[in-house]
Amino acid sequence: MERFAFIIHPLEIEDVARKFPSARRMPASWLETVIRRCPPIKASHITGVRSLQGTEAEGWFIGCLLTAKQMMELPEEEVLDKIIKAARKAEQLGAGIVGLGAFTAVVGDAGVTVADNVGIAVTTGNSYTVATALEGIHYAAGLMEVSVENASVTVLGATGSIGSACARILARDVGSMTLAARSVDRLEALADRIKTETGLGPQVTTDLAAACREADIVVAVTSATGAIVEPEWLKPGAIVCDVARPRNVSRRVAEARRDVLVFEGGVVEVPGDVDFGLDFGFPAKTAYACMAETMILALEGRYENFTLGRDLSVEQVDEISRLATRHGFRLAGLRSFERAVSPEWIQQVKENASKARRETIAGGI
Ligand SMILES: NC(=O)c1ccc[n+]([C@@H]2O[C@H](COP(=O)([O-])OP(=O)(O)OC[C@H]3O[C@@H](n4cnc5c(N)ncnc54)[C@H](OP(=O)(O)O)[C@@H]3O)[C@@H](O)[C@H]2O)c1
Repeated sequence: MERFAFIIHPLEIEDVARKFPSARRMPASWLETVIRRCPPIKASHITGVRSLQGTEAEGWFIGCLLTAKQMMELPEEEVLDKIIKAARKAEQLGAGIVGLGAFTAVVGDAGVTVADNVGIAVTTGNSYTVATALEGIHYAAGLMEVSVENASVTVLGATGSIGSACARILARDVGSMTLAARSVDRLEALADRIKTETGLGPQVTTDLAAACREADIVVAVTSATGAIVEPEWLKPGAIVCDVARPRNVSRRVAEARRDVLVFEGGVVEVPGDVDFGLDFGFPAKTAYACMAETMILALEGRYENFTLGRDLSVEQVDEISRLATRHGFRLAGLRSFERAVSPEWIQQVKENASKARRETIAGGI
């Protein structure tokens, strides 16, 4: 039996109140102070992960009790110390590899310091997150009849670990590209790299709204701690892959824009009769791609640091995709704001987008 663990954390303080009813009466600021002092917890035992190759794995979710906002705002040393303690708990439980969920992979040097301070392998899961986000984009483009080759693509959070790998790989296939984040220097360095690697010369901007307005496809993968993509930013028929947790795309988009397709990047079917022992809002037997990467490496017996740091290689992304297929992991259709995207939904979005385009043209005459 192979063994893994995955570190999770509350994205928002409301998640803690939902999980522990006794906390509901506490003001948010108190609750933040309380969880800041809490040691890591074993949140659940994961059973039934079974590869197509016959190997089996069990694991644990380890809770590192800090919200995304706390992870970004508290002193980095304190946050890293909490993540390392959670990884050590994984080691004590017998895991051979531990994956870093959501902001535990964003803080500091994206897993390098954590790996230096534990006796087991560490991975952020970002390679498989990139692979499944890209697969999802191609799948969604097929459904929406958008030609990726001619599409104008915007990557929000383009200079990050996941964003830069998505941008570098997508740049080989798309019509044009815009890279957006807050640091212009890092954006320009990435644009130069992409130009050298692919010949495509991306635009760069710190104006996220402007970056989205002309985009056929938007990849939203910033580490902002709240929603930043608003309904007014998107053009009719746009495809938006929201990889970020917490989401980058405002819930208002789902309510106000029935003419765009927003889907969550990185939702994966796990092989076997898996029981996560915990409800993270997905249908049974599905998980985030970053969780899946940890399971795949365990099933493969690859107890080695796999994805660490912010510079992912295309080879890593290709390799984890190959291993995923070998063990029976695959993209779990498309999901949007907790709902499965049906063929009827896609048809409705396409019809609404055509109508909105006609109205725009009529309004312009
Ligand atoms: N779906 C999944 O399975 C999965 C798996 C892993 C991670 N994630 C999520 O993916 C997101 C990104 O992770 P990562 O590891 O790639 O993070 P990262 O390496 O820290 O990169 C974050 C990127 O976002 C930009 N950014 C941050 N705040 C911004 C803001 N307010 N406005 C515009 N740009 C901003 C950063 O550049 P500047 O600082 O220059 O702005 C950078 O380009 C996180 O939300 C994480 O939780 C999801």
